[in-house]
Amino acid sequence: MNKEKKAADLEILSYLKEYLDDEKVRKMNEYSAHGKTSVLSHSLAVAKMAYYLDRKFGFNSDKKVLLVGALLHDFYLYDWHDAKLTHKLLEMHGFTHPMKACENAVKDFGIDKKTQEVIKCHMWPLTFKHMPRSKEAMLVCMADKICALKETFNRW
Ligand SMILES: [Fe+2]
Ligand SMILES: [Fe+2]
Repeated sequence: MNKEKKAADLEILSYLKEYLDDEKVRKMNEYSAHGKTSVLSHSLAVAKMAYYLDRKFGFNSDKKVLLVGALLHDFYLYDWHDAKLTHKLLEMHGFTHPMKACENAVKDFGIDKKTQEVIKCHMWPLTFKHMPRSKEAMLVCMADKICALKETFNRW
């Protein structure tokens, strides 16, 4: 591992350690996100990707908002493959899980409004009403799509 990557990983860990030590966050390891990737691995990958994009394009984001929002963006804590089948579009997992993740993150960690926005907006444009309005929210929204694509194609 080169020096720069090691320093980046250490900085990311310094913001996320207290969350990664939490039992409920660890529970995300029991649910699968895409293919063989657990929700926890996916969320960590999104945090690293958002951090990378932030540095690469010089956004100078609020690192705590960016990284905590990324780690908790899918903190919905259920197996979405078992989710109740519904024909009502707006009740489907893709539309509802950002709000559920945000509710859980507020309840368990009391996250601030800016971090709540990162979580609520990560599925945009699917959730068309929740458009990212901060650089942190936009970066996590992009990072999530990049990681989801990589994880989906890697299983083939
Ligand atoms: Fe999500
Ligand atoms: Fe995600």
